[in-house]
Amino acid sequence: MNKKRIAIIGGGNMGMALARGILKTDWALPENMMIAEPLKEKLGAVKDLAKGIKASHSNLEAARWGDVILLSIKPQIMGHVLEEIKHEVNDKKLILSVAAGITTSFIEKKLDGNVPVVRAMPNIAAVVRESATAICEGKFATKADLEVARHIFESVGIVVDVEEDLMDAVTGLSGTGPMYVFQILEGLSDAGVKVGLSRDTANILAVQTLIGSSKLIKETKEHPAKLKDLVTSPGGTAISALHSLERNGLKALLIDAVEVAAKRSAELGSTKKD
Ligand SMILES: NC(=O)c1ccc[n+]([C@@H]2O[C@H](COP(=O)([O-])OP(=O)(O)OC[C@H]3O[C@@H](n4cnc5c(N)ncnc54)[C@H](OP(=O)(O)O)[C@@H]3O)[C@@H](O)[C@H]2O)c1
Repeated sequence: MNKKRIAIIGGGNMGMALARGILKTDWALPENMMIAEPLKEKLGAVKDLAKGIKASHSNLEAARWGDVILLSIKPQIMGHVLEEIKHEVNDKKLILSVAAGITTSFIEKKLDGNVPVVRAMPNIAAVVRESATAICEGKFATKADLEVARHIFESVGIVVDVEEDLMDAVTGLSGTGPMYVFQILEGLSDAGVKVGLSRDTANILAVQTLIGSSKLIKETKEHPAKLKDLVTSPGGTAISALHSLERNGLKALLIDAVEVAAKRSAELGSTKKD
């Protein structure tokens, strides 16, 4: 059982998803968790998460109370919040940030002293504990700090380690990734309706097809191209559909989208308020 107090600053989509995931494991007790939100009206939702959880409208209180301070605020206000909490933070605390584009060195510079920082990029599937999260450490973080971060993010899915200069790429691929999948699923569902299925049936079939195909790749560890070959029989339906996807540039569209999202992540890092 973890004895560290976890303070989450920013109880929005990601902050609450992470809190829910962490509380579903037996690693952290609600008594050891606080969520800080500026709006008092939002604190009710925090208290509803679990009996004993602490809700605060003060970032200062959260930073003072927590051993691990998880920053789940928008990149644009990161500089402001770090300025606000810096006198409550020291090298005995661990800062975790999930903010797109914000580097560990930016956070370290804003805080006084050799404060350990770990940067993470989860995705919204953390809500159902199926996030794909990448983590990397700042220059003052130890192996033990990285393990604490790994434990937290493993409570909501899988975790991979990457070098920090790849974090914008991760943001473009898996951080933003659920949006691509939602778009693809919406398209497949519309397609099902176009060829005569009811909306409900089309949704159920499209979602399960995605889950099943993903599971097949995960379990067999085969390259997607090899599995694609398995389902494209000569003269069959799949090769005709594949021709249409290739003609319309599906893969190029996905590559463009990931690239543009990665660039936007880097931009958010360079345009945030100092
Ligand atoms: N959502 C995703 O899919 C996703 C994926 C990966 C990473 N992230 C990262 O997660 C972070 C949070 O994103 P999100 O989607 O959870 O955004 P969000 O839903 O807008 O959550 C941000 C929360 O921070 C609160 N907040 C605003 N000003 C604050 C302040 N000064 N001090 C403390 N809290 C403050 C907001 O409250 P109000 O609403 O009252 O302003 C809101 O509840 C971002 O940095 C994002 O890059 C998000």
